[in-house]
Amino acid sequence: MSKRDLLSLDPISAEEIEWLILRAKVYKKGGTLQPLKGYAVGLAFEKVSTRTRVSFEVAILRLGGHPIFLSFDDLQIKRGEPIADTARVLSGYLNGLVIRTYEHEKLLAWGASATVPVINGLTDRHHPCQALSDLFTIYERKKKLKGLKLAYIGDGNNVAHSLLEAGARVGMKVAVASPKGFGPDPEIVKSAEEMAKKHGGSVSVEEDPYWAVEEADIVYTDVWVSMGQEKEKQKREKRFKPYQINQTLLASARPDCLVMHCLPANRDEEITSDVMDGPRSIIFEQAENRLPMHQAILERWIGAQKDSK
Ligand code: CP
Ligand code: NVA
Repeated sequence: MSKRDLLSLDPISAEEIEWLILRAKVYKKGGTLQPLKGYAVGLAFEKVSTRTRVSFEVAILRLGGHPIFLSFDDLQIKRGEPIADTARVLSGYLNGLVIRTYEHEKLLAWGASATVPVINGLTDRHHPCQALSDLFTIYERKKKLKGLKLAYIGDGNNVAHSLLEAGARVGMKVAVASPKGFGPDPEIVKSAEEMAKKHGGSVSVEEDPYWAVEEADIVYTDVWVSMGQEKEKQKREKRFKPYQINQTLLASARPDCLVMHCLPANRDEEITSDVMDGPRSIIFEQAENRLPMHQAILERWIGAQKDSK
C-alpha cells in the first residue's frame, strides 16, 4: 500500500469530507478509538502556531500515539540539511508528519521524499485542516452544508483558498470579497468554480464586501497580514480597512448569520471586538473543533497506513 498525503483539498471528495465530519462528531462525543496506538507522529513547524500545534498534539495522544514537536529552529534544516534528506530520515522513525511551512512547494518536497503520510498544517497557499474543521463547525450549527452561503471577507490567502476548495466540494455558495490585487489565486478560483457547479454550489469573487455578505449564512474573515507578510503591514492595513467585519457590514447579512475567524485575530482590525464576542460569533467553538477533526484526519491519513511501513 502506498502512503497518501493531505497537502490540499484538491484531491478530496465530497464523500470523504462527509466521512470526516461524521467521524469528528464521534470523537467530539468522546469516542475513544485508538488507531494510532504505538505510533509516533512528528510535527515539523517552520512558523509559530497555537491551535494547530496543540490540537494535533492532543489529537495524537488521544488516538494512542505519541506526538513529537520539531521546531525548525532545532532541526539541522536550520543549518542547511535538505528537506529531502530530513524527510527520508524522519520517515525511518515516525509514522506520519504534520508540516507547517512557508512556500507550498516546500511542503510538496516533504511529501515527495517522506515515505510516511504528510499532513499540511498550513502553507502560504493552503490550510486544509482548518477548512475541514470549519465545515464540521458549520455542519454542527446548521445541520447541513449544501446551499449555505459563506461570505469570506478579506485577504485571498491560504485560508480563503482552502475554504474555496472545501465549500465547492459540498455544494456551498462561496462569495469572496477582497481589495483589488489581494483576491484568491485565479487558478484555485477556477477549479473551485468547476467543482461547485458539479455539486450544485457556486463560487464568486468581487471587491464589494457588502455585495458578498448579502444573504450570507456565514461571514468569515482572517488576518490582513499573514505570517511572512510583516513587511507589507502598513500597505495592507490601509487597503483592507473597508473589509472589517463590524455591525454595519453584518447588518447586510442574514439575521441568523454566523461569524467565523480561524484565529489568531487582530481585534478591531479585521473584526471588531464586539462582533468577535457577540451572539453571532462561533469563533471559539470553531477553534475547539480543530481537535476532533484532527483526530478524524489522523485516523484516516495515518491510522490507515498501518501496513505501509
Ligand atoms: N488557525 C490556526 O491555524 O491557528 P494557529 O496558527 O494558532 O495554529
Ligand atoms: N492566514 C493566516 C492564517 C493563520 C492561521 C496566516 O497564514 O498567517
